[in-house]
Amino acid sequence: MLALQSENVCKSFAHGKKIIAALENVSLEIREGEIVGLLGPNGAGKTTFISAICGLLELDSGSIAVFGKDVSRERSQVINEINLVTGFAGLLNGLSVEDLLRYYAMLYSIPDKKQRIEDALIQTGLSEKRGQIANTLSSGYRQRFYISKALLTHPRLLLMDEPTVGLDVESARQIRVLVQKQKKQGTTILLTTHYMHEAEQLCDRIAIINSGRIEAFGTVRELKKMADRPSGSLEEVFLALTKSRWEGDFVEARS
Ligand SMILES: Nc1ncnc2c1ncn2[C@@H]1O[C@H](COP(=O)(O)OP(=O)(O)OP(=O)(O)O)[C@@H](O)[C@H]1O
Ligand SMILES: [Mg+2]
Repeated sequence: MLALQSENVCKSFAHGKKIIAALENVSLEIREGEIVGLLGPNGAGKTTFISAICGLLELDSGSIAVFGKDVSRERSQVINEINLVTGFAGLLNGLSVEDLLRYYAMLYSIPDKKQRIEDALIQTGLSEKRGQIANTLSSGYRQRFYISKALLTHPRLLLMDEPTVGLDVESARQIRVLVQKQKKQGTTILLTTHYMHEAEQLCDRIAIINSGRIEAFGTVRELKKMADRPSGSLEEVFLALTKSRWEGDFVEARS
């Protein structure tokens, strides 16, 4: 069964008198158990697509199904299958890591709360920080907190919006290890990242999105073929497929 099936998804936003097409006929199929990377320049539509999968946006047209269930018509069932990791959310003031996880476990109506919280703390290496006030965590630990919060629900599809943004080398590496562990446990993962090495290391397949359109989707090797750069780096391929306006500078930087 497909973990995700998006068909011709369109979503526009009004910016004053201007209409911005954030997603234009986005069709994407993710198989159960794979890690798919969604790569694109700033403003390409990555976060919008992730919000659409979570049912947080009303689509202009098209449809999204998660494990065969339609996101807009069967949202309550879809919510049980997915969770989202985003560093762009705030944290409630004044609660410890453990208390905040307990709070989310309650919101999620999770059974066996104690065990799930324990598991989530262990899996993310957060046990030693359980007593610390969550919004005083450093970026790396804060990111681990967001992941542990998402793991509470045992999501079958885990959505991660820039999971390693702003993290130091070691923290980012630990998050990638965590992502790989989740995959081994059978979780399907869709992640966005601006780090090409991360995408190359983690993802079974990569979708390149630009100005709301999927420009290419495939393995790194397939993308290289599509971009006619069989021995190029993923960065080169990315720039070629997004027809980067920086290509001139980039060529200079290489030579
Ligand atoms: N709530 C909103 N209201 C109006 N415009 C929006 C809204 N959300 C997104 N947009 C616009 O939709 C487009 C896509 O934005 P989105 O946040 O999805 O990009 P992104 O690929 O996640 O970029 P980044 O790499 O910078 O995170 C942008 O032009 C953005 O300004
Ligand atoms: Mg974004």
